[in-house]
This record gives sequence, structure tokens and C-alpha cells, in this order.
Amino acid sequence: MSKVALVTGGTRGLGAAISVALQQAGHRVAATYHSNEAAAAEFAQQHGIRVLRWDVADQAACQRGVARVVEQLGAVDILVNNAGITRDGPLHRMSQEQWQDVIHTNLDSMFNMTRAVIEGMRTRGYGRIVNLSSVNGRRGQAGQVNYAAAKAGVIGFTRALALENARRGITVNAVAPGYCDTAMVAAVRPDVLEQIVAGIPLGRLGRPEEVARVCAFLADEASGYITGATIDVNGGLYPG
Ligand code: CAA
Repeated sequence: MSKVALVTGGTRGLGAAISVALQQAGHRVAATYHSNEAAAAEFAQQHGIRVLRWDVADQAACQRGVARVVEQLGAVDILVNNAGITRDGPLHRMSQEQWQDVIHTNLDSMFNMTRAVIEGMRTRGYGRIVNLSSVNGRRGQAGQVNYAAAKAGVIGFTRALALENARRGITVNAVAPGYCDTAMVAAVRPDVLEQIVAGIPLGRLGRPEEVARVCAFLADEASGYITGATIDVNGGLYPG
């Protein structure tokens, strides 16, 4: 049955593929973006998906943003917490800003966005929440202490929230992608990336659609017996 789905960071990269997969599954989709207005406008035009701009690190903005989605599309049944950033560098050279930017955007956003929808889901007795973790939250990665901490936090957040809402028709799961063909991964230094790809058992980057189909699967009404899980989509990189 058609539901209302909200995807953060849903106009580019993995998020764009997730928005499209949810639309293809018959849902009414809203996608948020933060800064790249041109990419969001092009995405909206190409797919007929509503796009809205706000910062997921800002709790008040999330509350206001979700209220706009509810007004325009209806109550949110499916939330995909996808928005995320990297500020890579070894900890001994990491600034407090690099640390905080990643924690605010990748982890605080889980609270900010979920807090804005969870009461409604509990009242209606239905919800699907899918949180994007990362292979690097599972295994760690040099240069990503901030990102790995946030993405490992996403898994704990997911498991605890799943328990709190298991009797309310709400499932909460995480997807942990590996290295995919997105702008985020393309920003890794070419020689470093080449080494990383050489270590992936499948020998290639993942395609955004390969992650998106798992998110759409977890968001499906029929997936109601899966909760608190983390599904790896990483080409065999972990557990290695
Ligand atoms: N293993 C262990 N430690 C390493 C390392 C490695 N492969 N590479 C770097 N380091 C650490 C070391 O502490 C090193 O210092 P010492 O050699 O003195 O101990 C320190 O980093 C600095 O090393 P360099 O000066 O050689 O490296 P750099 O400053 O040029 O770059 C880096 C360091 C930023 C970590 C770089 O190697 C890098 O970009 N690595 C990849 C990070 C990465 O995988 N990012 C993923 C982005 S995509 C994403 O995040 C999506 C997703 O979910 C998968």
C-alpha cells in the first residue's frame, strides 16, 4: 500500500537512489537536501519527487521541515535517515570542527529527525525507520575516527529504538553500505581509493541502486518481522 516516505539527503548519491526506489515501490516520497540547490532542482524535475531544504543537524529545522512534509503529503510512515558527510583525517590532526560537524550531521540527525516523527508513528501504530550506517562504523577506518564513531552510534541508536517501538508496529533497522559509486567516495584520494577497491572481495564499488533496494525492502509493510537489524551491503568487505 502507498505510504508517505521521507528521505534525508535524498536528492544525491545513495539518498537519490533510495528516493527513487521508494517511489518505484509506490510510495509518495519527499527528499531533503542541505546545500546543493541545483542538484536538488534537477532531481525533482527528473523524478517528480518533492524536495525540501533543511539542515538535519538543526533540531528546530527538522521539526519545522517534517511539519511541512505532513502538510504537503500526509503523515510520515517511512523515514530514511540517510543524510551524512565526511571530514576525513587522522585524529592527531583532526580539528574539533571536523569532529563536531560529522557527529552533528551523521548522529544528532538521527535524534532530530526521528524525534519529529516517532510520536505520530506510535499513535498510528505503524512506521518504518531505516538508518544509514556504514561498513566503516562496523570495522573502523583510518582517517575516519569521527565518521566511524557516528556510524557505529547509528547502530546502537537503531537497536535501542527498535526495542522501544517493537510493540507499536514500528520497525527500525540499519543498512551498512560499503564503498559505493558516489561523490562522497570519489572524494577519497585516487591512490588510497585504488587500494581500498583492491581489498573489496567483489573487486568493485557498489552501485547506489544495490543499497537502495535493501532500504526499500526494509521499508516495505511486509518486512514487519525484521527489526533492530543491521544489513551489510559491502561487496564482502566486512566481516572480512
Ligand atoms: N592504515 C592505518 N593508518 C593509516 C592509514 C592506513 N591505511 N592511512 C593513514 N593512516 C594514519 C596514520 O596514523 C598516519 O600517520 P603515521 O603514518 O605517522 O602513523 C596518518 O593517518 C597520516 O597519514 P598520511 O600523512 O600518509 O596520510 P594523509 O594525511 O595523506 O591521508 C587519510 C590520511 C585522510 C586517512 C587518507 O589516507 C584517506 O583519505 N583515507 C581514506 C579514508 C576513507 O576511507 N574515507 C572514506 C570516505 S567514503 C565514506 O565514508 C563512505 C562510506 O561509508 C564507506
